[in-house]
Amino acid sequence: MTPDERRAALDVIAAEVRTCRRCRLAEGRTNAVPGEGHPETEVLFVGEGPGQTEDRQGRPFVGRAGQFLVRLLASLGWRREEVFITNVVKCRPPDNRDPLPDEIEACEPYLRRQLETLEPALVVTLGRFSMARFRPGARISQVHGSHTPADPATGAGAALVYSLYHPAAALRSLEVERQSLDDAAGIPAALLAARARRETATVPAAPTTPGLFQADA
Ligand code: URA
Repeated sequence: MTPDERRAALDVIAAEVRTCRRCRLAEGRTNAVPGEGHPETEVLFVGEGPGQTEDRQGRPFVGRAGQFLVRLLASLGWRREEVFITNVVKCRPPDNRDPLPDEIEACEPYLRRQLETLEPALVVTLGRFSMARFRPGARISQVHGSHTPADPATGAGAALVYSLYHPAAALRSLEVERQSLDDAAGIPAALLAARARRETATVPAAPTTPGLFQADA
């Protein structure tokens, strides 16, 4: 896929998300939040679902949790525009409750298509709902800061999946904040492992983004 084709495919998905009525979350939303970022990135961050600020702005991770995510990225020398950021559910659950299984199921095709389009080397899960999508049965307390091969059925092809605590959890606990910074420091090594894995995988790999993260290469 050329960069233009990739951008166009992401725009098509985003347009569908904005008018989606596949589940009850459509009723309470101000704006759906498809996700945003660099169409040629190697790294996709997946959160849980939009909060109040995200619902108002139609953009992912722009509230307080987003500020912490930006801090995690900055700790690696990365900017949010260089990666892609999205969520498991694209509309805000009322009162920030957990997304329900049928809502996650209804939204699944959008995330799968985003994954198939972006072909990231590394998927970083933020919190347990995102982790559960890629590492069913895992416990966040055990797998944070570690990676595992993605199940291609998720749409993530030959990517590796790396897990972090949810950024909002770091706002509530100094220990989780410290741990999250520690775990984020493992992302560049996971990206190198992901690149190496893709070179030997049978699933076709996307090209490395020119200029992005080359210091780690
Ligand atoms: N929390 C999430 O999981 N996603 C967002 O976009 C914002 C907060």
